[in-house]
Amino acid sequence: MMNIKHLFQLIFLAVIVLAANSCKEPVEEVNVYSGRHYRSDEDLFRKFTEKTGIRVNLIKADSDQLINRMAMEGDRSPADLFITADVGRIAQALDQNLLQQAVTPFILENVPKNLRDPDGYWTGLTKRARVIVYHLDRVDPEQLSTYEDLVLPAWNGKILVRSSQSHYNQTLLASIVAANGYDQALQWAEGVVDNMAQPPRGNDRDQVKAVAAGAGDLAIVNTYYMGLLLRSSNEEEQQVAEQMGIFFPNQNDRGAHVNVSAIALASSSKNKENAMQLIEFLLEKESQELLASANYEYPVNPNAEWPELLKSWGTFKEDDINLSRLGDYIPESMKIFNEAGWN
Ligand code: FE2
Repeated sequence: MMNIKHLFQLIFLAVIVLAANSCKEPVEEVNVYSGRHYRSDEDLFRKFTEKTGIRVNLIKADSDQLINRMAMEGDRSPADLFITADVGRIAQALDQNLLQQAVTPFILENVPKNLRDPDGYWTGLTKRARVIVYHLDRVDPEQLSTYEDLVLPAWNGKILVRSSQSHYNQTLLASIVAANGYDQALQWAEGVVDNMAQPPRGNDRDQVKAVAAGAGDLAIVNTYYMGLLLRSSNEEEQQVAEQMGIFFPNQNDRGAHVNVSAIALASSSKNKENAMQLIEFLLEKESQELLASANYEYPVNPNAEWPELLKSWGTFKEDDINLSRLGDYIPESMKIFNEAGWN
């Protein structure tokens, strides 16, 4: 039987529960549409929530799918932030009026000019170089120089590179159109197709594996894939990467092509303040160092220290064309790939 003391205890508890519920603030949140699928990002979102109390709702999909989704959802889109692993995609989102300007003094101070939109519609989040990876036993790095020289007869049947569907290749070619013009870029693409060891298939890591397997001598890949292979839990992958050298092309002229993962404020954003807080959090030195050490990408914030592995590859000159300009050349690069038969 319940005595009077227990009854009072129950009433007391009920009052506390009611009071707690009535004081509940509306949940602070930010909705992120991301084309990046890395655990490092989710770790950072969790840290952000711990620090600020702002919940991060993450929707992951292919960047093109996310752009279509935002376009279809229009003003009703819940998207606050759009993240993509290629600057060509951010240009596409901008073209479709899916982004709004988001500049803060913090962004201006912590992100170099070439890695953010001059009109403030997006900022780089991490940086990656698209480099030449070569087999240490079969290639003397003295033979290597520029992207342009990959068409030389010496590389006939030796080059591994993925398909033109790859956003990374589209943006690399855009940088070559920007530097050399349409006609020379077309000749270049045709020359690379002629020198391919096999028709393009697989991802960047598969190109490196094909070189290790003897299909060819060099591959065009993003730097962080070498990090992911070297630090893979799979010993075979480590062995593949250990047979390779990394060469940064065009060091005596415009520099190696870099691309960014970029972050932008969606025009539909209803949690703008929270979104801006998250952008700044991701650009802080500590977050940048975490992204670099977990994923072997280069930080965009120059104050962030590089992990040892990136240091061991050395510093390099990067093509510092403002990346926002490369988006303009993507349609031309698609046309060139088509004409050159780079499938
Ligand atoms: Fe990637």
